[in-house]
Order: sequence, then C-alpha cells, then structure tokens
Amino acid sequence: MNPLELQQYLDFAYIVAVVLFILSLKFLSSPTTSRLGVLAGEIGAALAVVVTLCNPEVTEYRWVLITLIIGAGVGIPLGLVHMTAVPQRTALSHAFGALSAAIIGIAEYYVGTAPVTRFQMGEIALEVIIGSLTFTGSLIAAGKLQEILPQRPIVYRGQNIVSLSVLAGALGLAVALVVNPANTMLFPIMVVVALIFGVLLVTPIGGADMPTVISLLNSYAGFSAALLGFVLNSKVLVVSGALDGSSGFILSVIMCKAMNRSFTNVMFGAFGQVQASAAGAKEERVVRSATPEDAAAILEAANRVVIVPGYGMAVAQAQHKVRELYDILTKKGIDVRFAIHPVAGRMPGHMNVLLAEADIPYEKLIEMDEINGDFPQTDVALIIGANDVTNPAARTDKSSPIFGMPILDVDKAHTVMVIKRSMNPGFAGIDNPLYYLDNTLMLFGDAKQFVTSIVKELSGGH
Ligand code: TAP
Repeated sequence: MNPLELQQYLDFAYIVAVVLFILSLKFLSSPTTSRLGVLAGEIGAALAVVVTLCNPEVTEYRWVLITLIIGAGVGIPLGLVHMTAVPQRTALSHAFGALSAAIIGIAEYYVGTAPVTRFQMGEIALEVIIGSLTFTGSLIAAGKLQEILPQRPIVYRGQNIVSLSVLAGALGLAVALVVNPANTMLFPIMVVVALIFGVLLVTPIGGADMPTVISLLNSYAGFSAALLGFVLNSKVLVVSGALDGSSGFILSVIMCKAMNRSFTNVMFGAFGQVQASAAGAKEERVVRSATPEDAAAILEAANRVVIVPGYGMAVAQAQHKVRELYDILTKKGIDVRFAIHPVAGRMPGHMNVLLAEADIPYEKLIEMDEINGDFPQTDVALIIGANDVTNPAARTDKSSPIFGMPILDVDKAHTVMVIKRSMNPGFAGIDNPLYYLDNTLMLFGDAKQFVTSIVKELSGGH
C-alpha cells in the first residue's frame, strides 16, 4: 500500500473513532444505554490508539510497549476501586491525562522536529499551563476526597489576589515566550508557576465541592488535549479533547444548577464547613425515633411508597438489601418507586448506578421534577441515607447555604421515615428541619442493617 493510500485508511479509521466518541456521549446520557456508551467509548479509544501506532511516523515501538505496560499496571487496580472511591479515582485519571498532555507539550517545545513558530509557541504554552495546573489541581482534589488532605476549605486573607497573581504570572511568562520562543529559560519557570497555581486553585475549595471541581478539571484536561492536538496536528486529538472538554464543562454547569450554586460560589465560596449555629440549634428540638418493627408495620399498611436513596445508601452498600425490600413490598401489592435527585450521592448518576447494580427496574427510578408532585399522595417516603436533597430549608430558609437548591418534597408525604445513623449533618454541614416534623420518624442505624431488619420483619422474621 502506498503512503498516501495508507494515510487515507488511517484518516477514515480516525473518523470512525470520533463517531464512536460522539455516540458514546449520547448513549451515556441515559441509564438504559449507558453500558453501550462505555463500550462505544472504549472501542473508539482502542481504535484511535491502534491507528496512531500504525502511523508510519511511529518507528520505535519499544518505549510505547513499556509505557503501555506501566499504564495498564496503574490503570487496572485503579479501575477496580470501590464505588464510593470513584470520585477520587476519576480525579487521579484527570491528573494522569493532564500530566501526559503537559509532558508531550514540553517535549514538543524542547525536542520537536522544527523550531517552534510564535503561533505554535502560544498553543504549546497554553496547553502546558492548562495541563500542569490540572495535574496538581486534580492531585489535591483526589487527596481531599481520599481524606489524605484536610477536606475543609483552606482559606486566608487576600487568597484570591495571591492565586490570581500567580495565574497572571504564568500567563505573563507565556506571552514573553510567544514574543521570544527561543528563550528556553522562561519555559520551566512557566511550568512551575502553573503547577503552583493548580495547588492554589483547589486548596480553598471544600471536599464537599470536589465533585464539581473534578468535573471542571475534567474539562480542563480535555481542552488541554485539544490544544495538544493543534500542536501535534492531530485531528482526532482536537475533536476528542474538545468533546471531553465541553462535556465536562456542561456537567459542571448541570451540577452547579442542581445545587443552585454559581461557578464563582463553588470556586471561591469555601462551602462545606459545618455551621456551628445550625449544629447548636438541633439540641433543643425533639425527634421521634422508631424501630425496624414499627417501620415494617407502617410500610405494610401503605399503598404508595417512595424510596429516596442518598449518599448513606452508597456508604452502607445497602442497594442489594433495598432491592429485597422493593421485592417484598411489591409482592404485597404496594406501589414502590424511587425518587432520584440529580445530585444525590457524590457523583452524577450515583444513585442510578447503584440501583442498576441491584437490578431495580429503570422505570421505577423517577427524576425529581417528575415525582415531586406525587408526594402529597404518597403514604410513606422512606429516606435511605439521604439528607441535603430532602432538606426543606432549601425552600424556606433564606439564610441557609442551600437556599434555592431544588429538593425532593418528601415532607409532603403522609409519613416520612429517615434511615441514618445519627443526627449528624450531610454534605452541606447543615441541620435538616425535616427530622423535627410531626410526620417524621427517625430510624437510627446503618442503612444496610436497618433495611435488613425491616426485610426480616416483613418476611415474618425469617
Ligand atoms: P448527604 O446530604 O451527604 O447525606 C448523607 C447522609 O447519609 C448523612 O447525613 C449521613 O448521616 C448518612 N449516612 C452516612 N453513612 C451512612 C450509613 N452507613 N447508613 C445510614 N446513613 C448513612 O447526601 P445526599 O442527601 O445524597 O446529598 C448529596 C449532597 O452531596 C448534596 O448536598 C449535594 O449538593 C452534594 N453533592 C453531590 C454531588 C453529586 S454529583 N451527586 C456533587 C457535589 C455535591 P449519619 O452520619 O447520621 O449516618
């Protein structure tokens, strides 16, 4: 095959890979097709890698093989982490992706085949800055989520001025390099300044906001890869980087909207600190608690039950027991549905994934906007490890940090039962007035154990 013909085949295969990436994003937008989406993305990525390796410009395979083995050695154990550790695992993936983009940009500057033009210098500088800050920012995010680093926002007076000055420094060095690309001394300083900015960018943000930050870092890593595509003249990298960058950005916007927060509030708001006043206020009020026997009797007498899963169900890994509860109640002729809040848990689609793992039918998973109108006709709202997404203060208390966040209107159900271990707050660190309402019963205990006990009661103690 002559080189021109080979190139045409390679270009065609790249187009197929890009189409698979686009289909992957489309399929990932629904739980029913999401597995297909993962498969399409995997095939697209594998095709892009194989096609790149077939490119006649690639002459040396030894290093490619060594790095593939090292990458697989790191990637396989990372892919096997527990579901609750997926946010930090994702942060690490972005860190690696951004690091590789930054390193390739650095290599292109120092050992690229031709001297860089001013335009290329601009592309490389921007790409390396974004890649470097995403690398350190993602490492800090992963450290906070894994609780190796303090989760609380680390803030000090004048912080935003310091951070923005460091960013301005990195951009200033980039401009100086565009003016004189041959000034090799400035390049490493720019890289170090960008690495420092990544640390400064993420340390003031609380662990609570990390999922949104990770999604944003995902989009930075994507844009960095797209810029790298321009540097390397690789169309597949430009398109896949742009898809990654824009989908990450859209996801961050969706998450901010669902929490009723602005980007500036996420990035500079130091959200997620436990509020002393709210913690104090709960002491004076009375809550009513119930046993698994009481809970089973109330459920058995109900016609319509809505289960509201939250982060605590994920922590307790209670989804399979919840499936048993669903089965037993359904067999008794009770209508059971699940109310899904867009930001329940700690990552987008968290509850959908867990409930799908337990084979709960998709059609029983109802989105917040659709189910909210049904709560007044619901006999029992059974909340399993959810807290903030059910907090009525979001509707009524203007001083609440979650005021304006759309919530599940569980308080409108005839009876509300809440499974959680204590009166401790959830992610936002605030008290939940739902727990003190007359129609609320607290079921104190671990979600998995409590649901197991209810199931036992409902099946006659067996
Ligand atoms: P949270 O408000 O975090 O509440 C979870 C509750 O689960 C806690 O109050 C905790 O109470 C309970 N819990 C923990 N372990 C448990 C166990 N083993 N058994 C029983 N209960 C347990 O969760 P949510 O209602 O799902 O809300 C999610 C929050 O995360 C929202 O504030 C949202 O804005 C935020 N967030 C979500 C995302 C995404 S994309 N999902 C992204 C960013 C932020 P105890 O300690 O008393 O048990």
